Amino acid sequence: MSETLENLSSETRQFPPPAELAANANVTAEAYEQAGADRLAFWATQAERLVWAKKWDQVLDWSNPPFAKWFVGGELNIAYNCVDRHVEAGNGDKVAIHWEGEPGDSRTVTYSELLTSVSQAANTLTDLGVVAGDRVMIYLPMIPEAAVAMLACARIGATHSVVFGGFSVDALATRIQDAAAKVVITADGGYRRGKPSALKPTVDEAVARTESIEHVLVVRRTGQDVAWTEKDKWWHETVEQAGTTHDAQPFDAEHPLFILYTSGTTGKPKGILHTTGGYLTQTSYTHHAVFDLKPETDVYWCTADIGWVTGHSYIVYGPLSNGATQVMYEGTPDTPDRGRFWQIVDKYKVSILYTAPTLIRTMMKWGDDIPAKYDLSSLRVLGSVGEPINPEAWMWYREHVGRERTPIVDTWWQTETGAIMISPLPGVTATKPGSAMTALPGISSDVVDDQAQSVPDGGGGFLVLREPWPSMLRTIWGDDKRFLETYWSRFGAGSGSSSTEWIYFAGDGAKKDEDGALWLLGRVDDVMLVSGHNISTTEVESALVSHPSVAEAAVVGATDPTTGQAIVAFTIPRGNVETEGEAGEALIQELRNHVSKTLGPIAKPRQIMLVAELPKTRSGKIMRRLLRDVAEKRSLGDVTTLQDSTVMDLISSGMNTAKSED
Ligand code: WT7
Repeated sequence: MSETLENLSSETRQFPPPAELAANANVTAEAYEQAGADRLAFWATQAERLVWAKKWDQVLDWSNPPFAKWFVGGELNIAYNCVDRHVEAGNGDKVAIHWEGEPGDSRTVTYSELLTSVSQAANTLTDLGVVAGDRVMIYLPMIPEAAVAMLACARIGATHSVVFGGFSVDALATRIQDAAAKVVITADGGYRRGKPSALKPTVDEAVARTESIEHVLVVRRTGQDVAWTEKDKWWHETVEQAGTTHDAQPFDAEHPLFILYTSGTTGKPKGILHTTGGYLTQTSYTHHAVFDLKPETDVYWCTADIGWVTGHSYIVYGPLSNGATQVMYEGTPDTPDRGRFWQIVDKYKVSILYTAPTLIRTMMKWGDDIPAKYDLSSLRVLGSVGEPINPEAWMWYREHVGRERTPIVDTWWQTETGAIMISPLPGVTATKPGSAMTALPGISSDVVDDQAQSVPDGGGGFLVLREPWPSMLRTIWGDDKRFLETYWSRFGAGSGSSSTEWIYFAGDGAKKDEDGALWLLGRVDDVMLVSGHNISTTEVESALVSHPSVAEAAVVGATDPTTGQAIVAFTIPRGNVETEGEAGEALIQELRNHVSKTLGPIAKPRQIMLVAELPKTRSGKIMRRLLRDVAEKRSLGDVTTLQDSTVMDLISSGMNTAKSED
């Protein structure tokens, strides 16, 4: 990639915060001034939102970059901060979790009940020989026990590593091995698409393949038959019989809290390590600031799975540290029907909803009439995370979910950053559809060219972080060298340049618009080089989605004899659009011209495919690597992380008959 990334699209719509929200906002514009004046003092103030058993001596130790220590010398217990202190403050009867099972069963867990369960689980883990510093794997469906298990580990200082329940034996075994975990917490199964889906057989095989696991704790969720080994213990026969009180000991601010593996696009998964004090400070503060959570009145719902960092930071640690009442849902958005999300919003009067662009685009494809059937008037803040949200998807979210009343916060962050970094503040920022806007108070982001020079407004390049932040990853588990290479060796001191500044390279492309607002443009590995221009996949995808016939699009660069790379687009039409025969051909031509008109002729796709589905990872990100294979007519690479493996057959078979070139 040469110096910069083309800035092709422009957006003129802007939405100021609702007056009432702005007047009562948790965080105002003053926060930017405070953080700008003294960043470390700002973070110290946010750390004081937590209860510390021992106060820190130093806010940040950055004497051995890029290995940061935050709140040096401080001690706290995370579970105490997320549970006990709310009970002690008299909020024991307050609902912590409204849990909704996929089949329609439900449970209510108050903060006192949560305290009892977490204490029992902590006692059980201790009985099983787990001590501070040991690793515990968690492989569970979206049930309250998932949060209980995480908090119980945190309570006794054990490091948890949650593995998404949809992952295979291989993925689980690799992670058990890398972490050398002692215990796995799992369930017989969970409900997915109306059926019990087994988890225990995967664990049995992974445990058999590895050496380190001593015990397996099994929650009974579905009641399906399970094979039983001598390492297995039922949760209801151990945890639910255990002593109901547990004295939480404080841990050092830099005590390891969890390892979460991210697979990225290539190579062995990276065990991203997060620690205690800085992580809780930033997840707690950002949840309070970005969602404007009012714990007395709001009902918050984050639709992520606890297997992803979003579930860690914005289901478990952020919301519970703030004493939130939240919804947790076990299943899929189309079970029993495509209105399920809106039915849940309506049932629990959800006021803050945090979801992903992939879901928003899916809902767009399913049609406006579905959300229209439900009462969504309780909603007051909407959030998005995981991918760039196309301006049209943003507008759809605003219109059909927010009913043009609610602000949208597009939040950029990563497993590695631990917490939200770039986002509007709902009571402060006038938002632009598709932009994550600006770094939060206390965060220093920038967009740079390949010489690490800040690009001017209107320019595009690489997203970087210039200063350490409290919830930053501390290393890659067991691999400091890879940590340095992956994130710190592209720019600045770690790159061997004469600079003394340590610069974190996020791997994303971004641009600053004329007002300095930030637009995320996707992974730099996906950037297309067309006739010497660096074009982001995101801009072309957003241009396609801005056409009224398109719900979703994925764009890749395929080798081309004349232009180096050429743009190939895979496009999902909206529900009612005619795509057969000539109508399909006409639509394809229209879409090519539409992109050319919107972004300029350089961005005109060489080829457009109309498809029914796109290959996505389990967390909903488009797997462009596979689409590149299809576009270049190669045999498919590794498809094991694919959400639905039949999708690629469908796309490849359609490819041979598609006639869309000029
Ligand atoms: C990557 C991180 C952050 C929790 C979930 C994903 C992309 C994330 C946005 C956003 C544009 C985004 C980036 C980032 N991403 N949020 N609001 N706008 N892109 O965590 O799996 O570690 O993925 O997701 O490419 O680097 P993750």
